[in-house]
Amino acid sequence: MVRHYFIATMGCQMNEYDSDHVGQLLQHRDFLATEDPKKADLIIINTCAVRAKPEQKAYSLLGRMIVLKKRNPSLIVGIMGCIAQQWGSILLDRFPGLDFVLGTKEIGKLPEILRRLEQGAKVFAADLNRMSTFPAVRSGYFAGRVKSFVTIMEGCNNFCTYCIVPHVRGREVSRPPEEILNETTALVAQGVKEVTLLGQNVNSYRYGRGHGDGFPSLLRRANALDGLLRIRFTTSHPKDLSDELIQCFGELEKLCSHVHLPFQAGSNRILKAMRRGYTREHYIELTEKLRNIRPDIAITSDVMVGFPGETERDFEFTMDLVRRIEFDNLYSFKYSDRAGTRAEKMGPKIPEAEKACRLDALQSLQKAISLNKNRLLVGSTVQVLVEGRSRRENQMTGRTGTNKVANFNCDMNVLGSIINVAVKRCSPNSLWGEVLD
Ligand code: 5AD
Ligand code: SF4
Repeated sequence: MVRHYFIATMGCQMNEYDSDHVGQLLQHRDFLATEDPKKADLIIINTCAVRAKPEQKAYSLLGRMIVLKKRNPSLIVGIMGCIAQQWGSILLDRFPGLDFVLGTKEIGKLPEILRRLEQGAKVFAADLNRMSTFPAVRSGYFAGRVKSFVTIMEGCNNFCTYCIVPHVRGREVSRPPEEILNETTALVAQGVKEVTLLGQNVNSYRYGRGHGDGFPSLLRRANALDGLLRIRFTTSHPKDLSDELIQCFGELEKLCSHVHLPFQAGSNRILKAMRRGYTREHYIELTEKLRNIRPDIAITSDVMVGFPGETERDFEFTMDLVRRIEFDNLYSFKYSDRAGTRAEKMGPKIPEAEKACRLDALQSLQKAISLNKNRLLVGSTVQVLVEGRSRRENQMTGRTGTNKVANFNCDMNVLGSIINVAVKRCSPNSLWGEVLD
């Protein structure tokens, strides 16, 4: 009998990638995906621990999923991802209807867990200091997809004082280049045209003895793969963004004109308290180098407001950096205490209302900058990799190399092609235009 699984994915691209691995493992075992948790025989919540908000969201979803067991007593409910890794068996006590907890490096054990559930084994959140096992790309699984992720390294050694990631994803481990390139080739064979190479800190990618092969060398090899049209990567740490990597933007034609480079704070005092390992001056210099080598490069970033001890003056340095650099897009967050991090014990804590006020000012500023940047594109032609139908308007949608969403009318079958679009209008987050070819 065919069984159905429902998986809810929260958080970052690592989790999206992991959910796809779960999907491939399950489909191999005669499970079909469903979008409706009420129809599911197995529900998995893939969670994020980076801030309190996604954590609360995960618990409330988990509660609602467990309630479905009343109508369907054979339903299995599990949790995976960063919250699962962080709290392990504590979650089983807190949620008596929860059937299993799968750690961030234990995805390959899912089939075993499903087999062993009857025997009572429920927690598989363990050893963080090894590489996950990656199942081979399952034939047909990615059919119809234009873009995909490929993990190149896991974990993080930086221990920024606010961050839970090193605690839930372990130390940095790089994946062998052959495995990464084989996986990419298998995706391309299913029609994928764009890959995003994933890691908590891709710039520290290194495989092999001695100095080993670094990230630029991996990029060069990926650039040589037939049939692959675009390469992206995320995330970069400013302290490790090397000149050799910046040089790649001058050499590799498949490397998209976009870099996501989180700066987190504009004040050197706060950067130090965060243990980021760079100054605002160094960050500005990096963006200048990137723009020199690829004048059209889009720079996006992450920033947080209200880190413990952040004064009005510190916050002004953040606003100033945003004005100076003019990011194409900015993901901004209120600082959130995470259990077990060093910042949790730092003070003074900034009141929620003050954080909200700073966030508001920052987001208004960025909205105006994003709109201005997009307006500069109106009247120009952009190259768009077509990803599918747009959800709201009855149009096709895709992204420019600079990672901006572009929508347009088109009757032809252009899915997976790069087409020229003349930009007619824009909002802070999207472009609209007409197909030229
Ligand atoms: N509070 C708020 N934001 C955080 N981030 C990471 N940890 C925290 C925290 N404790 C943000 C950072 C990071 C992004 C993924 O989430 O900006 O780059
Ligand atoms: Fe991704 Fe970090 Fe959230 Fe884990 S805690 S899902 S690694 S953003």
